Amino acid sequence: MKQLTIAHVVVITLTAVFLLVALDMAGGLRTDRHLWVPVPAAATAPPAQAAPPADTEKGKPPPHNDKVEDLPEGKGREITFYTCTACHGVALIKAQGLTRDLWDSTFDLMLEKHRMPPVKPAERAEILDYLSEQFPPRRRPRGGDNPFLK
Ligand code: HEC
Repeated sequence: MKQLTIAHVVVITLTAVFLLVALDMAGGLRTDRHLWVPVPAAATAPPAQAAPPADTEKGKPPPHNDKVEDLPEGKGREITFYTCTACHGVALIKAQGLTRDLWDSTFDLMLEKHRMPPVKPAERAEILDYLSEQFPPRRRPRGGDNPFLK
């Protein structure tokens, strides 16, 4: 058999490429033409972003599904719930155990740093009474509920 030279290889390769391109352009290699149909804009749009949490606009649902009953029973529960859960759930509040003074500071923090709408002094006092009564410091001492640590 005659030996293949580089020139032969080049010519054969170019011919093969040319044929494949011609076939492709004729559509012979494309059975899945629909892939080139432009995707509707709605399908490529990024998913809607969740609303920013610290939004205090009236009428916006809060970013959680907590109910008044998720706070412990006690005087001031309703006013505390409706004042304090516009931006976050009750879990954030229940996780804290503070003196009345520190709840007072937390209140200021919500007003100043997180732009909580102003609260009437009488309501503020009722909320602070509720918070310091329900969530005092070291509400659950280490092992408080654990019989093995007694
Ligand atoms: C205007 C929105 C807004 C309101 C109303 C609000 N908070 Fe907050 N609060 C925040 C934001 C924002 C944070 C930051 C923490 C986060 O969301 O992750 C926060 C955090 C907290 C924390 C956790 C702080 C910490 O150091 O871990 C506590 C406790 C808290 N808030 C209590 C309250 C109480 C009590 C009230 C009602 C008097 C209240 N918040 C009302 C926005 C608010």
